[in-house]
Amino acid sequence: MAEERIVAGQRHGREAEGSLRPQRLQDYIGQVRVKERLAVFLEAALNRRDALDHVLLYGPPGLGKTTLAQIIANEMGVNLRFTSGPAVERPGDLASILTNLEEREILFVDEIHRLSRPVEEVLYPAMEDFALDLVLGKGPGAKALRLDLPRFTLIGATTRAGMIAAPLRDRFGVVMHLDFYAGEELAQIVERTARVFGIDIETEAAAEVARRSRGTPRIANRLLRRLRDYAEVRGDGVLTLDIVQEGLYLLDVDRLGLDAVDRRLLHHMAADYGGGPVGLETLAAAMGEEPGTLEDVYEPYLLQQGFLQRTPRGRVLTPRGYLHLDLAAPKES
Ligand SMILES: Nc1ncnc2c1ncn2[C@@H]1O[C@H](COP(=O)(O)OP(=O)(O)OP(=O)(O)O)[C@@H](O)[C@H]1O
Ligand SMILES: [Mg+2]
Repeated sequence: MAEERIVAGQRHGREAEGSLRPQRLQDYIGQVRVKERLAVFLEAALNRRDALDHVLLYGPPGLGKTTLAQIIANEMGVNLRFTSGPAVERPGDLASILTNLEEREILFVDEIHRLSRPVEEVLYPAMEDFALDLVLGKGPGAKALRLDLPRFTLIGATTRAGMIAAPLRDRFGVVMHLDFYAGEELAQIVERTARVFGIDIETEAAAEVARRSRGTPRIANRLLRRLRDYAEVRGDGVLTLDIVQEGLYLLDVDRLGLDAVDRRLLHHMAADYGGGPVGLETLAAAMGEEPGTLEDVYEPYLLQQGFLQRTPRGRVLTPRGYLHLDLAAPKES
């Protein structure tokens, strides 16, 4: 795709996010259940002066997995070492990362579903027994050697929990799912970001940005940046409800946060496939996209909003989906 979609949950190339990340658990807005559980596990680990259990965070892009990992490190008062599935190419790479960790430190592995099999196998004893199994030499003279590792915490993050092998998933003591944010939570995030940037935003305007951000903090923050531009150029810099609505019209983000690409997908389904069921592959081909992209990027929000349904025979456009397109749903036959 040539142009980056303003409403895509994934991070755009050079998007700066660091300054916006809350640093402590109490400043992390929303995800109430996740926070409650984490607070208990953190306190227990701190009291025992032990490492926190390994944590797996999963959920759609831009919901705050990386942010939460950094917060956990801050709360534990330890360093966070950052790596990712594709970055760890060989088992030796992981071995050297692991042997350089200190007691209770956190190793954050982003996109953990993309670790290769041989690398994953190094991780199993490391997670389970804090040990590294080495084989010295080759052939009949080879010797197995077990190295002790510090008690560390692995935090894995993924947008695709289904792609994590069961033996890996089973080694996480804590598995937490991040879900789309509710409107009021996102509105709080918008107001917080506005404070950080020194943007003047009215309450109803913040609520409007929140409604159109697909339940995703990253999108809310991104829209806010663009709307600030709009307010400075077309207004007096203050984000009022009118300015936000005009700005979002210009950005082609509709009242529920759908953009032209989403609407094209829904239109294809209505016009070319009679509302479905239509297979993922067929739909992807019609959109000129990879099936995986369709599934991870386009669909989650459309499913969550009830515009689409997944059925064993393919995707189906719901009456709500038709309504959003201002089309009448076909009569049941
Ligand atoms: N609960 C929250 N409160 C305030 N801001 C948040 C929260 N969650 C996320 N954010 C903001 O949203 C942005 C994206 O969050 P983050 O990078 O942690 O998402 P992610 O889940 O790791 O995404 P990806 O799957 O692409 O790695 C961050 O800049 C952060 O400031
Ligand atoms: Mg991340």
